[in-house]
Amino acid sequence: MPVTLITGANRGLGLEFVRQYAADGWRVHACCRRPQEASALQSLAKTHDNIHIHRLDVGEFEAIRHLADELRNTAIDVLISNAGIYLDRDQPSFGNANVEMWLEEFRINTIAPLKLAEAFLEHVAASEQKKLVFITSKMGSMADNGSGGAYFYRSSKAALNAVAKSLSIDLAPRGILVGLLHPGWVKTDMGGPNAWITPQQSIAGMRRLIERLSPADSGTFYAYDGQIVPW
Ligand SMILES: NC(=O)c1ccc[n+]([C@@H]2O[C@H](COP(=O)([O-])OP(=O)(O)OC[C@H]3O[C@@H](n4cnc5c(N)ncnc54)[C@H](OP(=O)(O)O)[C@@H]3O)[C@@H](O)[C@H]2O)c1
Repeated sequence: MPVTLITGANRGLGLEFVRQYAADGWRVHACCRRPQEASALQSLAKTHDNIHIHRLDVGEFEAIRHLADELRNTAIDVLISNAGIYLDRDQPSFGNANVEMWLEEFRINTIAPLKLAEAFLEHVAASEQKKLVFITSKMGSMADNGSGGAYFYRSSKAALNAVAKSLSIDLAPRGILVGLLHPGWVKTDMGGPNAWITPQQSIAGMRRLIERLSPADSGTFYAYDGQIVPW
């Protein structure tokens, strides 16, 4: 039975990743900040004994190491760094840039995924599939930026893209594959009700890409529908 670990698993895209992988019989390590309040995830786990819930705030780097240590004998086929924040969505980030907010977006969207990869590297290396997957955003693309704004979110995801690209090169000798995926504009709390696709569509598409991820396309920036996103 393949194994996945997913961050931000209590709602939105993370929860849908859990739902689909668990339904397919994978062993799912579902991480979230407040398990006691994660009612949708808890009820899913009640009907699936292949779901294991862990408390993890990805901004607490010691906690990432602690969980990696707790799971030290667990090979992880697909590690999915999904948790993310978009704090400057509803307010302009240029004019009087809130530095604390910007740093927090970098901490969660860029630095935490790298710390996750560091902490769980051996777990992934010990698995059969050896895949590290980062959920990024088209908003991190320079070429796709036609509307400006969102300075904090855009820069944090562009930096995440740079991190993932380097990992794809540095970890290739160990046979580790890196997926860098834009989920589409999805109806979640972050995407809002006017988004174009459902979490089910987004996750089904991203799971197809994860499944077929190969050395030839490790580190390529893909959208959920298989289109390559220009940097
Ligand atoms: N929805 C879209 O249209 C869209 C488009 C492009 C990219 N994305 C990316 O897709 C990923 C998932 O987005 P989503 O739409 O599912 O967003 P969402 O509905 O806002 O959910 C975000 C998830 O991240 C978790 N999270 C936030 N900060 C965390 C922390 N410090 N530690 C652990 N978990 C934390 C949240 O947990 P809490 O409940 O505890 O806050 C929640 O589970 C993000 O990386 C996002 O940037 C989304």
